[in-house]
Amino acid sequence: MVKVRRRGLPLVTAALLAACRSDSAGIVTPPVTPPAQNPDTIPLRSLAALRGLRVGAAIDRGFRFIGAEGTQFRATFTREFSMLTPENDMKHDRIHPARATYRFEASDSLVAFAQANGMLVRGHTLVWHQQLARWLTSTTWTTAEASTLLTQHVADIVSHFRGKLSAWDVVNEPLADNGALRAGFWLDNVGASYIELAFRAARAADPDVALYINDYNIEGLSPKSDSMYALVQRLVARRVPITGVGFESHYVVGGLPTRNDLATNLARYGALGLKVQITELDIRLRLPSTAEQLQTQAQNYRDVFGVCLQSPACNAVVTWGVTDRESWVPSTFPGWGDALLFDTSFVPKPAFRSVYALLAGR
Ligand code: XIL
Repeated sequence: MVKVRRRGLPLVTAALLAACRSDSAGIVTPPVTPPAQNPDTIPLRSLAALRGLRVGAAIDRGFRFIGAEGTQFRATFTREFSMLTPENDMKHDRIHPARATYRFEASDSLVAFAQANGMLVRGHTLVWHQQLARWLTSTTWTTAEASTLLTQHVADIVSHFRGKLSAWDVVNEPLADNGALRAGFWLDNVGASYIELAFRAARAADPDVALYINDYNIEGLSPKSDSMYALVQRLVARRVPITGVGFESHYVVGGLPTRNDLATNLARYGALGLKVQITELDIRLRLPSTAEQLQTQAQNYRDVFGVCLQSPACNAVVTWGVTDRESWVPSTFPGWGDALLFDTSFVPKPAFRSVYALLAGR
């Protein structure tokens, strides 16, 4: 095993990469074949490992591709990525469809796939206001009942995956756009203490997994981002077991926070002793996209990876899908798409190449 300093790697040499088979966190990199002299034969995940960075993707529809499409999808994913987030399979409605029924098959198979391919898994997500099972939302509960339902859900699921995941998004999207706590089933039925309850229940069920709070529009500096920081500060002050903050990072091309704001925000969480992960990165374009937009997108991707790389607190970047073929964007934002690193034919886009060059020290 080659020991490499985490930051400030001046230039990644092909010989060093060729010699590297695993990093200290246990990434097993596919053999570099052939010839190691060509840096582009080295997977992105291996370059990232040398910088102490995980590069991940959310997985859902791509795993249902069959035939050549399925083969291509898996080959692209396993070659370039070292972290997997189930895009939907761990959400309440899928994993807990009836009060006394858990359905773990889909998420278990994603976890097994990740393990077989040397990937870490980010669990997503335990407590959220969306994708809740009907049995939960269609009944009226007392505060005590709702609190028990929350802690039970968290305890059962975290226990099921105990020892198998690297992180959990324990609480997802707790803030409204104005920075107030977002109304929704858990806030309305349990009260503001639901956040703290969820973290404590998760820690009780798994002593080692990293515990995250995750949200969007908190990446730069804004009233909402300040609210998240204040919320996290309060949790830390109350010794709530929180490891870090997930910056979702769903962007419109050209509409990202500045590198400075992103770096400043990352640093203030670092100063609290917390980690940050970029958890759902995508940068959407108006369709049909132009070559110019694809270039701007490439620069935007490079900026996000670049800031993470330079921030000691940031240790992973996860894109919300692998290719433009299975991304959630076109169906969620009609008229928009082309948001990821690979195109609909599995071809690496300018965005992939710019991230690759960055990680290769070029
Ligand atoms: C999205 C999925 O990508 C879609 O497939 C699903 O229909 C809705 O949820 N923030 C989150 C993710 O935390 O869970 C969401 O995922 C995207 C926004």
